[in-house]
Amino acid sequence: MSGEVRYERVGSLDLLDGKEGCVVVLRRDGTRVALLRTGDGIVAFEALCPHAQGPLERGEIDGAVVTCVLHGWRFDLARGGCETHGYQGIRTYAVEVREQSIYIGIEG
Ligand code: FES
Repeated sequence: MSGEVRYERVGSLDLLDGKEGCVVVLRRDGTRVALLRTGDGIVAFEALCPHAQGPLERGEIDGAVVTCVLHGWRFDLARGGCETHGYQGIRTYAVEVREQSIYIGIEG
């Protein structure tokens, strides 16, 4: 990896209907990526719990933390770290909105 980040369009801003808590899941190169509208904007994260593949987009969202619906592991959506078991986190993506489109940052 070069460490460079390139931004890839993943969809229209219309995907998220403007309400806080709205979430959609996309597939990108075999990875489930969730886009979530928060009070501060949009966050993007890998929507697969590393514990037992729980669907993180269905988890309880509290600010910038999601709690997995299956066994309660908690993940920081800003940095991807696991708050309950620090050794294993999730991938998160930088997000930009340009001209009504959503882009996520992919490290190359
Ligand atoms: S599958 Fe997410 S905590 Fe177990």
